[in-house]
Amino acid sequence: MMLILDAVLSPEDAMLLRERLGRAAWGDGRVTAGAAARRVKRNEQARGEEAAALQGFVRRALERHAVFVSAARPRRISPILFSRYAPGMAYGPHTDDAVMGTGEQRLRADLAFTLFLAPSESYEGGALRVETTFGVQEIKLEPGQAVLYPAGSIHEVAPILTGVRWAAVGWVESLVPGAAERELLFQLDQTRAQLAEAGAEESALLRLDQAVSNLMRLWARP
Ligand code: NI
Repeated sequence: MMLILDAVLSPEDAMLLRERLGRAAWGDGRVTAGAAARRVKRNEQARGEEAAALQGFVRRALERHAVFVSAARPRRISPILFSRYAPGMAYGPHTDDAVMGTGEQRLRADLAFTLFLAPSESYEGGALRVETTFGVQEIKLEPGQAVLYPAGSIHEVAPILTGVRWAAVGWVESLVPGAAERELLFQLDQTRAQLAEAGAEESALLRLDQAVSNLMRLWARP
């Protein structure tokens, strides 16, 4: 499943974040890529104290986002990476490592996300292209919007022609490892919200909550 998340950050917060990132130290993005991805990755990543201070801001925004939580059922979220691509930079087709990080931060990457931080009209090129069963999807969003997609898909960032593409990226280990199971739980959450909105009886909603909760007992790997 691929999902667009609206308003993870307000446009104002996204712009503020980008301003602060402008003052961070930047280095070659290849340091955090796996062996195969390193060969096709050409971008810069923020490092140092300023970047570390901003990671929590993005993480908390995601943890507050009801659609993200319902779709991803996060068990752990990787440290957030801030990336930028100047003209000529790109991230060629690759798939993300299945297991990332070391020690406490070790996780299975089920889902990847990209939070866009620059207005789409401020740079040419730079779309995130993700291979799906419905063909290649091209994603280029506005500041504060994010896309959630399978980390195991083949995906790329198209070359930047003009301007600078700024983004925050990260990975999620889900409580529910199976994509099909996660999607069913997400559909049930959406249905619950619709029924509640339509004024369904509390007893019916309780039955639905029971079913979702018992599916979690079957499927969750906490
Ligand atoms: Ni990737």
